[in-house]
Amino acid sequence: MNSASAPLLAARNLRKYFPVKAQWIGAPRLTVQAVDDVSFAIAAGETLGIVGESGCGKSTTGRLLMHLIKPDSGDIRFAGKPIVADDPSGLRELRRHMQMVFQDSYASLNPRLSVQDSIAFGPRSHGAPREKARRKARELLSLVKLDPDQFGPRYPHELSGGQRQRVNFARALALEPKLVILDEAVSALDKSIEAQVLNLLMDLKRELGLTYLFISHDLNVVQYVSDRVLVMYLGKVVEIGPVDEIYHRPRHPYTQALLASRPSLDPDIKIKESPLVGDPPNPINPPSGCRFRTRCPYAEAVCAEKEPLLISAAHIDELAVACHLQSPQSGHSKAAAPS
Ligand SMILES: Nc1ncnc2c1ncn2[C@@H]1O[C@H](COP(=O)(O)OP(=O)(O)OP(=O)(O)O)[C@@H](O)[C@H]1O
Ligand SMILES: [Mg+2]
Repeated sequence: MNSASAPLLAARNLRKYFPVKAQWIGAPRLTVQAVDDVSFAIAAGETLGIVGESGCGKSTTGRLLMHLIKPDSGDIRFAGKPIVADDPSGLRELRRHMQMVFQDSYASLNPRLSVQDSIAFGPRSHGAPREKARRKARELLSLVKLDPDQFGPRYPHELSGGQRQRVNFARALALEPKLVILDEAVSALDKSIEAQVLNLLMDLKRELGLTYLFISHDLNVVQYVSDRVLVMYLGKVVEIGPVDEIYHRPRHPYTQALLASRPSLDPDIKIKESPLVGDPPNPINPPSGCRFRTRCPYAEAVCAEKEPLLISAAHIDELAVACHLQSPQSGHSKAAAPS
């Protein structure tokens, strides 16, 4: 990764609060703070993993980047240029550069379109003549290791989950995007199929020079595929950095707890007690100060009073952490000594 070049994608101060249906007429208007002041960048050619417990805002972040939902505030730049999503040509341009693949392979495909028509749909709607789009679809099927003669005429219900997900990748790649957001894209597959599809993804990335944002709750998979990892907790980025730093020297107590509670790959090693007990607090009314403090073994008064800021690193490939323990002047009794 080259930290000197401008990032391919940069998100700054992204925020999305979802309104919650009022329980009774006249009840106060409540919101779920799904993504709150999130900033990060993705370098061209890297895989950035996003991890965190269910409901922490991973998918909302991906959907905001794709402009599938509108942020309340914040800005997103692609290759240094702001994305103007209000204008249809801006959105069309965005969809050429960025694509997203979701977990549910079946829901993403039109059941009435054959595989090849489904893949050709994108190029067709961007003006490619029928024959050219068809040819492109066949090439893409070969690229995702499905025989075009055998699989092109089939319909989604005639495919296995792994095959359907390959078709979804082919569809995502049809407009030759630079960035692909993979939201739990392999999570629904059986473990052996998952490994094959992951390897295919990594091969495609190399061959086509792609950049990935890889969202998953599976810490082992994220470690396997990522160059850098972003850890989210209740709508906030708590830590971001190179994969080896995050996995071998996690600084944030949440990252430490998350890693300590992951299932071991070795079935003989069983975790005795999960260090992460209970569920995250309600995102409608998150704790003051540090949102993790109610589950953190190191919490002190300062953690309730002041929000720890994610000290952004000077370079995209350095580690950044939002924790008073890591900030010399925070007032936490165990704060790291100034270096
Ligand atoms: N359209 C919506 N309307 C209201 N609340 C929403 C909406 N989408 C997401 N949320 C809420 O926002 C929060 C973040 O959700 P999100 O789906 O981004 O989490 P996630 O990290 O992707 O979780 P998971 O691992 O379960 O996929 C959750 O509390 C969720 O209930
Ligand atoms: Mg999700």
